[in-house]
Amino acid sequence: MKFIIDTDPGTDDAVAILIALAHFTDDELLALTTVSGNVNVDVGTRNALRILEHSNRNNIPVYKGEATPLSRDLLTAEWVHGTDGLNGVEFPEPSKSEEPLGAVDYITHLLQKNSQEKITICVLGPMTNIGKVLIQNPELAENIEKIIFMGGGAGFGNHTPVAEFNVLVDPEAAKIVLNSGVKLVMMGLDVTHQAISTKERLNKILETGTVTGQHIVGLMSSLAELDVVKEKFPDGTPVHDAFVTAYLVDNTLTTGELTNVEVEVDSDLTLGQTVVDTNHISGRNKNVFWMNKVDDNKLFEIIKNTASKI
Ligand code: BDR
Ligand code: CA
Repeated sequence: MKFIIDTDPGTDDAVAILIALAHFTDDELLALTTVSGNVNVDVGTRNALRILEHSNRNNIPVYKGEATPLSRDLLTAEWVHGTDGLNGVEFPEPSKSEEPLGAVDYITHLLQKNSQEKITICVLGPMTNIGKVLIQNPELAENIEKIIFMGGGAGFGNHTPVAEFNVLVDPEAAKIVLNSGVKLVMMGLDVTHQAISTKERLNKILETGTVTGQHIVGLMSSLAELDVVKEKFPDGTPVHDAFVTAYLVDNTLTTGELTNVEVEVDSDLTLGQTVVDTNHISGRNKNVFWMNKVDDNKLFEIIKNTASKI
């Protein structure tokens, strides 16, 4: 398998990237591409480089992506992830810079070049980069093995009553991806809210005795301490983006069903809502494998193994 991670790091993005680094080689994980979302793309790109530096994997290239959504003002979430995007967790200064090529051009060239071997794309943030690639070259959809994305939810949101953050930031990009014909796997709030970083799980990660373990616990704890998170999840925090890369490690992590998913791009009230046809009543094209159940112990086992491997 060959894959890239498109990300807006981000505390849970950092956990997801570490999972990938612990379980896949440089021949498999080809690059990190960044996008504005949780933080501005400049801050997020630096974080991607910091995470690679910590993991002694800075030979993996980082390509900086889009600074703003396709047709809207940027919405960020520093109030969740801190102004540094990693809530003060001490990843080292990067000794390398991002590549000169932009993420959209890199992904385009990669998909053109690898037409024999299809590429999997893990999307952990707003879909701006991928949306732009597919607007410019819709035929490249055929060279994507699948897109596994963290985003959306069936009937509820986390940034508005009905919209999840990644989809809300760039609903037009999400619409392009949902209608692209690419095989899509959706890790939405439906599954991410089912796996919580309890104290017991954090302790098991700390027992690995590694700096990576401390960092992962630091990243998760910083979210668990937010008032809004505490109110809904008194025992810990969901680790949204980790689902995407943990699923690459073990695809029995989640189960779900193929159904239609569309996104609202017009309404002020429900902007960014993913409309998931949970009862299969729309008659519309079944475009997404929508995940709705998770083996939560498995997720935290993968995270613990990550801590011991880096
Ligand atoms: C998603 O939004 C971001 O804040 C997280 O990194 C995750 O990708 C959860 O809604
Ligand atoms: Ca993210």
